[in-house]
Amino acid sequence: MHKIIFIVFFMISIFINAQVLYSPNKDFKMEFSLEDGIPQYKLTYKGEPIIKKSQLGLELKGKKLVEDFDVLGSSTSTFNETWSPVLGEYSEIRNNYNELLVELQQQDSEIKLNLVFRLYDSGLGFRYEIPAQKEIHYFELMNENTEFNLTGNHKAFWIPGDYDSQEYVYNETKLSEIDNDKLNLNNGVSVKSIGGRYVVQSPLMMKTEDSIYVTIFEAAVDNYPVMHLNLDKEKYSFQANLASNTVGSTAFLRTPFHSPWRTIIASDDAREILSANRMILNLNEPSKIEDTSWIKPMKYVGVWWEMHVGKSTWEYGKEENGILIPNGKHGATTENTKRYIDFASKYGFDGVLVEGWNVGWEDWFGNWKEDVFDFITPYPDFDIKEVSEYAKSKNVELIMHHETSASVSNYERWLDRAMDLMNEYDYSAVKTGYVGKIIPRGEYHDGQTMVNHFNYVAKTMADNKKMVNSHESTRPTGMHRTYPNYVSAEAARGNEFNAWSKGNPPSHETILPFTRLMGGPMDYTPGIFEIKMNHYNPNSDFQVHTTLAKQLALYVTMYSPIQMAADLPENYERYSDAFQFIVDVPADWQDTKILEAEPNDYVVIARKKKGKDEWFLGAITDENARNFKVKLDFLNKNKKYKAVIYEDGKDAHWKDNPKSYKIRELTVDSKTVLKLNLAEGGGTAIHFK
Ligand code: NOJ
Ligand code: CA
Repeated sequence: MHKIIFIVFFMISIFINAQVLYSPNKDFKMEFSLEDGIPQYKLTYKGEPIIKKSQLGLELKGKKLVEDFDVLGSSTSTFNETWSPVLGEYSEIRNNYNELLVELQQQDSEIKLNLVFRLYDSGLGFRYEIPAQKEIHYFELMNENTEFNLTGNHKAFWIPGDYDSQEYVYNETKLSEIDNDKLNLNNGVSVKSIGGRYVVQSPLMMKTEDSIYVTIFEAAVDNYPVMHLNLDKEKYSFQANLASNTVGSTAFLRTPFHSPWRTIIASDDAREILSANRMILNLNEPSKIEDTSWIKPMKYVGVWWEMHVGKSTWEYGKEENGILIPNGKHGATTENTKRYIDFASKYGFDGVLVEGWNVGWEDWFGNWKEDVFDFITPYPDFDIKEVSEYAKSKNVELIMHHETSASVSNYERWLDRAMDLMNEYDYSAVKTGYVGKIIPRGEYHDGQTMVNHFNYVAKTMADNKKMVNSHESTRPTGMHRTYPNYVSAEAARGNEFNAWSKGNPPSHETILPFTRLMGGPMDYTPGIFEIKMNHYNPNSDFQVHTTLAKQLALYVTMYSPIQMAADLPENYERYSDAFQFIVDVPADWQDTKILEAEPNDYVVIARKKKGKDEWFLGAITDENARNFKVKLDFLNKNKKYKAVIYEDGKDAHWKDNPKSYKIRELTVDSKTVLKLNLAEGGGTAIHFK
């Protein structure tokens, strides 16, 4: 009897070549079909097409898995659970989706390929799987043929598909206007459109003419390159585009294999795009670290900004005939580090980052030498033992710095010894850096080799109970669910660009949450109070392109569980009333409410401190002044709160008068509607207690 049912079921599924899947709330509908043996999918949102029929397939070396397929079988399932991230924007996250598994087999090769689709209330995730089978074992991936056929000439917020860097200013244009060759210079940064003229990075944020917001991204990238997108301008269609390796393919793989998840998030409400970053987390595996008690949020200061503004140097001096000659400007001295430790201790910061503590900075830039750094030898004026003991006595932790200058093979050779040093002096976190072209030469930051390196470092650090914050790494894709010690990353253009270049336009921080932060926290290093660089150098016209109040609001809008107070101690003590917000704001949250949002224009977010009935609000705007009427209905209904409001002064303006701010206090409750006035390039930060 069983056998007959099975055969009938099998016969039915052989002939079915179209499958429909709905999201739990029915807003999304995904249709899979096999036409002339080619797998395809399409996606609608509230009845409107988002992705038109688009092909799926993988191109292997010597074998194309793109056509001549049959459907062997298919099944659907539903998943619904709630989990708690170790650190996060929400203390609980619901993971609810409907899944369709389609099992395909190619006719001649008999290779089996599975497609897994997961439909959430916020969008679609899908991936390729090649199960273990005798037909295929090891393979080399040449290209991924995943298509995203869009419905029109949408507005796009994009940066060029440079496989080595995401440190660009965003462009806001129609899809038809995307062209890396026409960019040449991107706010002073030369554009290397290695991927091609029309290749852009993901996450790619778009807005249709009907005001539907659509984001193409990915989740859980491991042992695979990061996904860029190549635009076909005739069809408004993107194809997945992967950084190649030194031998001209994109990945060396084996079965059983699965790709990262390709994701399409869409909504008619821009605020829902921001809260849909939970879908990216949900598509990642649960934590592989069992005891996570040592993973904690950190606010930190550092021997850092003073080098970026040219007040001191990373290097000790210069090297002549093997002898180090001091320049008298070295930042990471024992004495100066103690000054930062005192400051951190006085204001309750958890950590002090020290850059330039180790030998090698005389000759680190330019990638000629593989072994500039050994990660264990301090400069003669940095007494690591004394500084560590001092920090401990003040209840402050030191944050290790490993600038690799992208000499990755060298870093891997030294990693165990570097770890021993961190263990010896009880460092619990490290900031890594990958400035320059990668060694092994010819590899890209976004290729498979480097993705594996970044994940390997996170795993090795986890084995040693250390947290990692990487700069110049690939951008996160939610892997901090699986390795919660991978607490943050830069992987976009940070605040530092404002110190030594034309900087980031006032809109920059209003697009980052829709793009870079969809995959995970960013170490943006907010909190610059001394906005204009002529404070340090009378000839400089560089500056931070925000008001001071907006720098405060960034602590709420720019999520990171390791958050820097980036400016110099003396600058904070001059504006100690405004500094109080940075002292009070936490870096780990119970809940998050996106109150207002429009990509590249403005973001207003309220967050609840973990385990406390205290809320923080951050509102930021681009180059336009704006008013918001914010309903405080997120507050506890039965309580009154004191709201401390840090806002732009009447005459504030990011360029003309950035340091004009005022602080006022109000008694509010959940029925209060607050009017916020933001200056050009301005912001508001509020503490409700
Ligand atoms: C670039 C990083 O983003 C920055 O934070 C760091 O100070 C320098 N590299 C030097 O490592
Ligand atoms: Ca950087």
